Amino acid sequence: MKDYESFEPLEIVRAEGSYLYTADGKRLIDPLSSWWCKSLGHGHPRIRAAVAGQMEKFEHVILANTVNRTIAALSERLAALLPGRRHLFYGGDGSTAVEIALKMSLHAMLIRGETKRTRFMALENGYHGETALTLAVSDLGIYKEPYRALAPDYPMLKGIPYCTGVNDPLFTDCGAAWPALEVQLEREKDTLCAVIVEPIVQGAGGMLIYSADLLRRLRTWTEKNGIYLIADEIMTGFYRTGTPLAGDHAGIAPDLVCLSKGLTAGWAAMSAVVLSGELYNLFYADYGTGRDFLHSNTYAGNALAAAAALEAQKIYEDDGIAARVAATAPVLQRLMRETAKETNLLTNVRGIGMIAAADIKPEFIKAPRTGYRVYRRAIELGALLRPLGNTIYWLPPLNISLQTLEELKSITVRALRDTLL
Ligand SMILES: Cc1ncc(COP(=O)(O)O)c(C=O)c1O
Repeated sequence: MKDYESFEPLEIVRAEGSYLYTADGKRLIDPLSSWWCKSLGHGHPRIRAAVAGQMEKFEHVILANTVNRTIAALSERLAALLPGRRHLFYGGDGSTAVEIALKMSLHAMLIRGETKRTRFMALENGYHGETALTLAVSDLGIYKEPYRALAPDYPMLKGIPYCTGVNDPLFTDCGAAWPALEVQLEREKDTLCAVIVEPIVQGAGGMLIYSADLLRRLRTWTEKNGIYLIADEIMTGFYRTGTPLAGDHAGIAPDLVCLSKGLTAGWAAMSAVVLSGELYNLFYADYGTGRDFLHSNTYAGNALAAAAALEAQKIYEDDGIAARVAATAPVLQRLMRETAKETNLLTNVRGIGMIAAADIKPEFIKAPRTGYRVYRRAIELGALLRPLGNTIYWLPPLNISLQTLEELKSITVRALRDTLL
């Protein structure tokens, strides 16, 4: 809040496509898709019409013991993202979806009679949300430090094989790193009910990309040991990394998959957990036998959000978003490499699908909040480029134009030079 003394908040009056418009007449590129959710850009006319159409019918009705055609059609589509007979559980936002998946894995272990398996394991540098439990499985000190008293200290898997993208040999083979990781997993396995990961890309941790081979090995290990694997696809889901789900890079089918953000293309707060038939069957029991999964968010399955989500899913298909990402992603990656080369201010350039990132070279970080100063300069130049600490990244709408990407590159180059040189 104190920053506002010298840097007033931007008053947004309109948002369209990849651009935001302010009250004082500025046009800004939104290169982070408004916190990674506006996958189809702002104001998509088809989603606007779908939400308006739903508004004419009803805006919100309790989902418990009711059904409607929109939520049914949406559930069919989401279940089909994974193999096998899958089921859906709806929540309000991303953190809630993660809480649902964590609670469900713990409860399932109780039903299975594995009462010692009450703990979770997560990856170093991971991030899974802002509630007490989701912070407990996150590894970002600044977010969770003051609240440590609220939740258990869960083990974090250390020594993750990070890589630069799909062409890095580590992406397909992390055999050298695996033994040290397996030792940590084996040490904890008797008390674990689930391992939770952000598949392939850790967002809030700094857009860190890790080996798909690690994900594959983790799936094999969890399966072998009867431990659930939770894939938090909240940021990575719906073509962000080039595939429908990031887990597809490793060809895995996790027990639980958390979806949000791109689910509604950023139109409304909504999340869903896609769970396996095995999990569903564990909870399928007579009333009062302790096997009921009691979790009831007021707005779970909200009709307006569901209408947006169903339309977004249709647009991904109708507009050939997979092919569009396949064509745009190499350009996005090239432009980040060029930015690093032309400025000589960035290192560790990495990217996958419609995510590109690089770190400011340590020798140019001469003052605190260097990333924040780049952010302020970029806004003056016309882009809401909002670094994660000292990591510069682009995670734009999947349908951003090549022209806007070029514009984003030149603003990034200028913002870096003006701030750091
Ligand atoms: C991987 C991941 N999990 C969970 C969340 C939390 O989602 P929400 O902010 O909707 O609660 C986020 C948000 O950025 C995320 O990136």
